Amino acid sequence: MNPLTIDIRRLQREIDELASITEAEPPVVTRVLFSGADLRGREFVKKLCREAGLTLRADAVGNIFARWEGANEKLPPVATGSHIDAIPNAGKYDGVVGVLGAIEAIRALKKSGHRPQRAIELIVFTAEEPTRFGIGCVGSRLLSGVLAPQKAAALRDRDGKSLDELRRDAGYTGSLDSVRLPKNCYAAFVELHIEQGPILEWENTAIGIVEKIAAPSTLRMELTGVGGHAGGTLMPGRRDALLAGAEIALAVERAVTGSGSPDTVGTTGVFRIEPGAVNSVPCRALLEIDVRDTKVATRDAALVQIETAAVEICQRRGVVLETDRLNVDPPAVCDAALVETTADICRHLGVSHRKMISRAYHDTLFMAQICSCTMIFIPCRGGVSHRPDEFTSPEQIETGVHILAQTLAQAAG
Ligand code: GLV
Ligand code: MN
Ligand code: MN
Repeated sequence: MNPLTIDIRRLQREIDELASITEAEPPVVTRVLFSGADLRGREFVKKLCREAGLTLRADAVGNIFARWEGANEKLPPVATGSHIDAIPNAGKYDGVVGVLGAIEAIRALKKSGHRPQRAIELIVFTAEEPTRFGIGCVGSRLLSGVLAPQKAAALRDRDGKSLDELRRDAGYTGSLDSVRLPKNCYAAFVELHIEQGPILEWENTAIGIVEKIAAPSTLRMELTGVGGHAGGTLMPGRRDALLAGAEIALAVERAVTGSGSPDTVGTTGVFRIEPGAVNSVPCRALLEIDVRDTKVATRDAALVQIETAAVEICQRRGVVLETDRLNVDPPAVCDAALVETTADICRHLGVSHRKMISRAYHDTLFMAQICSCTMIFIPCRGGVSHRPDEFTSPEQIETGVHILAQTLAQAAG
C-alpha cells in the first residue's frame, strides 16, 4: 500500500462544522436523537459520504450505512463507525471522531490507491446515547438482536412519544424486524473513539487498543409520595419523594464504593421532581441510576444492594416505589486476533500503544455479539468527556485515523 496521507485540516474543519449543528449555544454540543440538530447532523454526514463516493442506505431505526465496495462482493465486509448523537451539554469529539474519522480513513485509503477485497462499511448508529429513551445503543442493540423490535418500538421519551413514532417522523420507515443483522455478516468491526478517561494522557501513549468493555446497567425508579403546602404540611407526617430519592442516591454511592471492586461506579444522573415549586412538598421523583463494572458479579451485587436499600427507604418514608431495570448488559470481549492486528500496525509505524479496558460503553459492546471487534482509543485532555471542554488535538486524531485506516485495510485485504 502507498503511504497514507490524512487530511487533518479538512477533518478538523468537518468536526468543527458538525459541532456547530447543535441545539445549544456553541461551543456546547447537544444533539439528542431525532432532534432538528440530529437530523441536520445526519444530512451533513451523508453529504460527506456521498462526496467520498460511498453508497448510502439506512435501516428502519435510522442506522446509516455508507459503503465502499470491495473487489470481491462475495466476502463479508469490514465495518467501522460510531455515533453523532450527543448528550445535553456535551463536547464535539465523543462519537464524532469515529464517524468523521472513518470517512477520512476511507478517503485516505482511496487516495493511496488501495483497493480492498472486502467492502468497507461505515455505520452511523442511532442513539448511542441514552438521553431520549433511557437506554443507550438502541441502534446497535437492534442490529445485534439484543433488543427485541417490539420492545424498541414501545420505548417512550419523557414527552410520551414512542420510538416508533419518532423514527417514522424522521423518515425511517419499514419494519423494525428488518434491522437485525445475521452473525458474522461483517468480517470485523473497529470503532475509533476518544478514551473518555485519563490513562493514555497520563502515560503519554498515542493509542489504546480495547480488549474488553465494562458491563453497563441502568435502573429507573419512580417515587410517588404525597405533596402539599410547604408551610402548612408539618414535618412529622410528610411523605416527601425527593427526600426518599436523595437517600437512594446516597445508597448508590455506598453500594458501589463498598462493592470490593475499584471498578464499580454508580451515578444518579437523572433526578427530576414534581411539581418543582419552592413552596410545595415534592410528590414525585424520577431517578435514573447508571451502575457499571468490569466484573458482572460485583456490578450485580451492587444493583441488588441499591434495590434493597430503595425498598427500605421508601417503606420507611411512606413513598410508593416502582423500579425498572432498563438494561443490565454483560461486558464485551474483543477479538484477540484483531487486537493483535492493530497492535502490530502500531509497532510497525512506531506509534506508542497499550491494550486497555473501555469503562465507557460503545456500540462495539453490541457489535461484539455478531462479529469480531475491537476499538481504537485516542487520548482526550484530562480524560474529560461528556462536557463542552472535551478536547483531543488534531495530531492525536490524525494518529487515530491513520491506525484505523491501516486496520481497516488489513482486515479488508
Ligand atoms: C456512553 O456514552 C457511555 O455513557 O458510556
Ligand atoms: Mn457519550
Ligand atoms: Mn461515544
